[in-house]
Amino acid sequence: MPKETVTVIVNATGEQLELPVLRGSHGPPVIDISQLPAKLGYFTYDPGFKGTASCHSDITYIDGDKGILLYRGYPIDQLAEKSSFLEVAYLLLKGELPDHPQLQTFTDTIMDHTMIHENLRSFFGGFRYDAHPMATMVGVVGSLSAFYHDSTDINNPRHREIAAHRMIAKMPTIAAASYKSSVGQPYVYPNNKLGYCGNLLHMMFSVPCAEYEVNPVAEKALDLLFILHADHEQNASTSTVRLAGSSGANPFACISSGITALWGPAHGGANEAVLRMLEEIGDVSNIGKYLAKAKDKNDPFRLMGFGHRVYKNYDPRARILRKMCHEVLHENGSSADPLFELALRLEDIALQDDYFIERKLYPNVDFYSGLIYKALKIPTNMFTVMFAIARTVGWVANWMEMVSDPRGVIGRPRQLYDGHCKRDYTPLSER
Ligand code: ACO
Repeated sequence: MPKETVTVIVNATGEQLELPVLRGSHGPPVIDISQLPAKLGYFTYDPGFKGTASCHSDITYIDGDKGILLYRGYPIDQLAEKSSFLEVAYLLLKGELPDHPQLQTFTDTIMDHTMIHENLRSFFGGFRYDAHPMATMVGVVGSLSAFYHDSTDINNPRHREIAAHRMIAKMPTIAAASYKSSVGQPYVYPNNKLGYCGNLLHMMFSVPCAEYEVNPVAEKALDLLFILHADHEQNASTSTVRLAGSSGANPFACISSGITALWGPAHGGANEAVLRMLEEIGDVSNIGKYLAKAKDKNDPFRLMGFGHRVYKNYDPRARILRKMCHEVLHENGSSADPLFELALRLEDIALQDDYFIERKLYPNVDFYSGLIYKALKIPTNMFTVMFAIARTVGWVANWMEMVSDPRGVIGRPRQLYDGHCKRDYTPLSER
């Protein structure tokens, strides 16, 4: 088959260059512009990478127009219905679904690594009493490389695997300790007999002076939320992990940078922001006022949990969570949560509004996730931490794929410089 190319004419003298067109297994074709600077002296300009593929990947595929999300080819709704978080973690890391013994070995391995170095625990006491748990997470996860030197050789596949297992296993322990520290309760050690999410609930909510039994409904709900949050191709935090990793940085440092990027309200911080927004709106009668604010270009207010860079259709994860929200609230006997009623009305009204219709703005995964976390009694400032635990799997899978890709080079974007042209230094006395 002849090599597919497009011809790009770039200047008045008619100088032209044929650029290769690359096709993946799914999705639009991609023009390889890497020769453009060397051959014609031009860079491309694409703020926010709206039209730029930054890497090859086999992990996750999104069709934003159709509202499709696939992990290693499997539709998210099938995984949400039939799978478990650790099975999905195995799939994302290794590329195939595990058989029974493979899943058992993987689960045992992860649960064997849940403890954190005892000296790490003293870190939590060093933060101010009212530190946001995400701030604590960034610091503590970044420090892991100071404790686990024996798995930081990124050129050693076994080191990479151990680091991956350690991060997935220790993230719930670190998250729970961040929470315990913020409420002044003693840290709770992991219990490896419990499941991944059951153990997280145990470490967050049990106290030494009382019996604690994991609520199976809460455990299942958390497991499903984690499946939905596990990966989402080259989003801001995953791209941050890849960029940090492209310099050869150790995996713990890279994941810490991903947590930082996730924290922003335009990304994973949206789940916390949605709940705060619903509380601020307060009542159905105020929806009109807040929608007007969201549409006003002079007002920085945006409808949190609405809109997505890739989905121009209903986010398939939001659809699953909307249904789950009904179920969890019903199970909890709190089906009349006024914030859920408010969220449903807000969605209805926004989806009939021309502004949102024209811009194809639909609820995203974070519109309903916060309401479910609230129903599970997870405090609002822990919502994004929950997201970070789940997304660690996607970050690690992408980091491993990047490190083992022979095409890998350091990420180094260029810029369109708008500053001063060269000028001479003026001595201080003459200024
Ligand atoms: N409320 C009001 N208007 C919005 C919203 C919103 N939530 N989202 C987008 N728009 C408008 C923009 O103002 C813009 O309008 P214009 O064409 O008149 O200028 C248009 O829709 C396109 O929006 P962009 O900002 O160009 O879209 P982009 O892809 O850059 O941003 C983003 C996507 C950041 C998610 C945005 O929709 C947003 O800020 N949403 C709210 C925050 C949120 O829910 N984030 C979570 C995303 S999911 C995740 O990361 C887990």
